[in-house]
Parts: sequence; C-alpha cells; structure tokens
Amino acid sequence: MSQIIDGKAISAQIKEEVKAQVAAYRDRGAEITLAVIQVGNDPASSVYVGNKKKACAYVGIRSLAYELPEETTEEELLTLIADLNERGDVHGILVQLPLPAQIDENKVINAIDPRKDVDGFHPQNVGALCTGQDGFVSCTPAGIIQLLKRSGISIERKECVVIGRSNIVGKPMALLLLKENGTVTVCHSKTKNVKEVAKRADILVAAVGKPRMITEEYVKEGAVVIDVGIHRNAENKLCGDVDYESVAPHTSAITPVPGGVGPMTIAMLMYNCVEAYRFCERNQ
Ligand code: GUN
Repeated sequence: MSQIIDGKAISAQIKEEVKAQVAAYRDRGAEITLAVIQVGNDPASSVYVGNKKKACAYVGIRSLAYELPEETTEEELLTLIADLNERGDVHGILVQLPLPAQIDENKVINAIDPRKDVDGFHPQNVGALCTGQDGFVSCTPAGIIQLLKRSGISIERKECVVIGRSNIVGKPMALLLLKENGTVTVCHSKTKNVKEVAKRADILVAAVGKPRMITEEYVKEGAVVIDVGIHRNAENKLCGDVDYESVAPHTSAITPVPGGVGPMTIAMLMYNCVEAYRFCERNQ
C-alpha cells in the first residue's frame, strides 16, 4: 500500500507552529510584517497573492499589499523596493512573479535586501544554499524537504532524481537533497532517456510543468514520488505532472494533487517571515 503524503495536514501543522511563534513575538511587542507586491492582474498571481495574504492573517503576520498597475515601470518598482528595504517595520518583501515584459525580473530580485528576501530568490541566498551557509530557501523545495522528513522518509544515501531545472524549484530542490546527503541527478528538456534516469530514483521529484507526463514507465517499484505540478485538465479538474492513477500503485509514498506540495509553499513562506524577523532582531 502506498502512503499518501498529506500536504494539507503537514502544512497546517507548520502554520500552527508559526502561529505560536508569531504570538510569542507579539506578546513582546513585535509585529512581524510582510510586504507583498503584485504588478498587473494575472488571474493565477491574484489567487496566489490572495492566499498569501490569507495565510498571513491566519498566523498573525501583518501583510502590506502593493497592487501596482500592469504598466508600472521598472524604475517605479525598484523605487518601491528600495523604500521597503529601508523600512525598519518591514521584515519580508515578496514580489509575485511573473512580472510584465517591461520589467527585468533579475534586476528586481537582485534589488531586494537579501535579509528580507523571504522567497529565497536573491543570488546571495541561492549562493548560501549552494555553499551550506545560512540564508532563505525557496519555499516550494523547502516545503518538499519538510513533507519527506515529517512523513518519516529519509533522504540520506537515496538516489534522488529531480525532473526540471527552474530557479524556483528544480535547482534549489537538487541542492537541498544534496544537503540531506542524497545522491542527486537533475533531468531537463535536453536530457537523453529521462525515463531511464527517472527509473533509478528512490525519490523522484517531478517539476516539469507538463500535465500527467510522468507515467508508471518513469517510476521504480517502491519509489517515493513528489509531484510539484498543478494544472487544470479538460474537465477543469486539478492534476499534477504525475499520472497519479497509473503511478500511485507502484510507489511506497506519493503526494496527491491537490493537497500535496501546493499547500507547503505558503506554510514555508510564513516560516521564512519569522526567520526574517529574527534576523532583523539579531542585527538591531
Ligand atoms: N510565482 C510562482 N511561484 C512563486 C513564488 O514562490 N514566489 C513568487 N514571488 N512568485 C511566484
């Protein structure tokens, strides 16, 4: 029987832990604050940003919402970030991606004070992760490590295969699995024989962005399968990068979609906000 990894329950547990920590800081007079910036009104981004604000309210973090028009210039956005970097009452800054075409995403990421970069996208934080130093870690891969650990799945000595090499998921995922002493392979669109490589995995992380691409042919008997994808199929039902029905019977553990990786991202963002506050406090 395959274990269904319950991201809903695990993310709820993390949010409760964060909520208790936020309350303890509040008792000491601290108001942990996250600035959330959205440029334009991409519907998916609006849903994500709305969920982030809701989670902040739930755990007791103050959120400052900046909803900027689609035609915002790069300079205007960089000026806002510079202001937020300077503000002592703002501990975390998040700019929802993607940004409109006139704005250079890398310039924006690089402008955020790395000490307030709760998304973990700044090169200083990515470099810290790469070299085993302290820093913010991208929320989705950090959440996947929590899913594995809190489900009693060890990573050490395991063959780990990550399919996908994005800056937000694939690359930091590979670095985190390596940090946990896994043996890590990253597959991408130019990889020869993805099926063959994926079939070696004890832990397979699918972050390809293609609905139900990962069928049973990619999965070793008894593997742990983590599905990062989220798509709507023709019947408007949510599905992942993994063809759950055909794959699940061959796994020892698997994340469902919805209710697997998805809820973990926001839980880890809340965790990172408390870390950001701690960092400010230490350096006052
Ligand atoms: N767009 C898609 N995922 C993310 C995320 O984790 N953070 C931000 N800022 N934008 C995103």
